[in-house]
Amino acid sequence: MEDKLVEEREVFLEGRKMNTNVVLVGHVDHGKSTLIGRLLYDSESIMDDRVEEIQKLAEEYKRRFEFAYFLDSFEDELKEERTIDTVSLMFKSKKNYYTITDVPGHKEFIKNMLTGASHADVAVLVVSAEEGVQEQTGRHMFLLKMLGIKQVFVVVNKMDAVDYNKEKFETVKKQISELLNSFDYRTEEMLFIPVSAIEGDNIYHRSEELDWYEGPTLIEALDGVTLEGKEKPLRFVVQDVYEVDGERTIVGRVESGMLRKGDKVIFKPTSVNGEIEKIEVFEGELEEAVAGDCVGIVINGEVNRGDVCGVVENPPLAAEKFLGEAVLLDKYLKKGARLELRCGTAKVRCEVKEIKEKINSETGEVMEKYPKEINEHDAATIVFATEPLVVEKFVDVPELGRFVLVKNGRSIGAGVVLDAPL
Ligand code: GTP
Ligand code: MG
Repeated sequence: MEDKLVEEREVFLEGRKMNTNVVLVGHVDHGKSTLIGRLLYDSESIMDDRVEEIQKLAEEYKRRFEFAYFLDSFEDELKEERTIDTVSLMFKSKKNYYTITDVPGHKEFIKNMLTGASHADVAVLVVSAEEGVQEQTGRHMFLLKMLGIKQVFVVVNKMDAVDYNKEKFETVKKQISELLNSFDYRTEEMLFIPVSAIEGDNIYHRSEELDWYEGPTLIEALDGVTLEGKEKPLRFVVQDVYEVDGERTIVGRVESGMLRKGDKVIFKPTSVNGEIEKIEVFEGELEEAVAGDCVGIVINGEVNRGDVCGVVENPPLAAEKFLGEAVLLDKYLKKGARLELRCGTAKVRCEVKEIKEKINSETGEVMEKYPKEINEHDAATIVFATEPLVVEKFVDVPELGRFVLVKNGRSIGAGVVLDAPL
């Protein structure tokens, strides 16, 4: 039994190493859901009975059968006819495993988009050949830039609707390049792929209609992505603390690095320290846990939800001030505003100490230095003063490097940590 567990775990970890996280972004209706449906269908990740089930549902709603309906949330999507939340799906090419996330195209869902994109290794920007660059194309580019996603493939979709015309593709490509350049992306190294998600051209199969295009198909491009595998420090985020028979178990998630039995660790901001006596999972005990694992650890000391633990040689730091970049979803945000800030499992009070730059989230352009306030959809670099909490630069530990701003129980903004502690 135990051997089997160990074996399964190894297979799982091996699989995870090869897993590429892809996020799909782009303006509403440019074909993101359809593209995912096509990837799943052509990679034979969808069972035949599921196809029938979805076809039936589609009929009920009197719309013609479309690939967008393959998504897990398809029932809602049929009713709403739009993607209203992020959806993640797994599929496998001949070479690789993928987790692909579809994000909504509307502005109200920028927050979702931020959380959806935050684990992405690579982004696919979908732009309709018919409509070209639209408002959300720019906003999503901005978010990708903010989240530090360097690898971006541009898919020019709906080529069937423009008669597979090369000139049309070149025009849209030029338009997108100009936008990408304004976000400091180097477009000369970037791939632009003409596709039709509906017809399946250049997604999994090379298109005869697009014989003027010599580059890779989308799946070939994705299969060619290499992931950075740098060693990261241990960050274990506390979710709950239980006490049973005088033994205290701390339940949480390893967000980065590796947790080993016997490790000397310290929790912040509380500064409790000790040695890991046991690493527990539902099925038994582990010698070590890696990023993504939810485990219980046994240690002595007062630890609270929201605390973060690391090894003593490379501990997390508690900040009372940090620099973040955020997008606002509320009408306005003023310097001096007092809000709640959530990061990891921590919830603390915070104050907007200083707004350094007001940024146009469609173009990335700095609009004003040290403004008194910012408005809906503006982005800004902001100095926050907070109750002591552990945050990390987003580029170092993404899971502890993004935060949500809450006012009266409502999320009004989301962002990433640029520098901490200040
Ligand atoms: P949101 O989730 O609302 O942001 O939209 P989306 O980007 O997921 O678009 P979706 O896949 O739902 O497609 C929108 C419309 O475009 C649907 O009617 C699709 O059938 C159509 N469409 C998608 N891909 C293609 C394509 O390759 N060619 C043509 N002609 N139409 C397409
Ligand atoms: Mg969609």
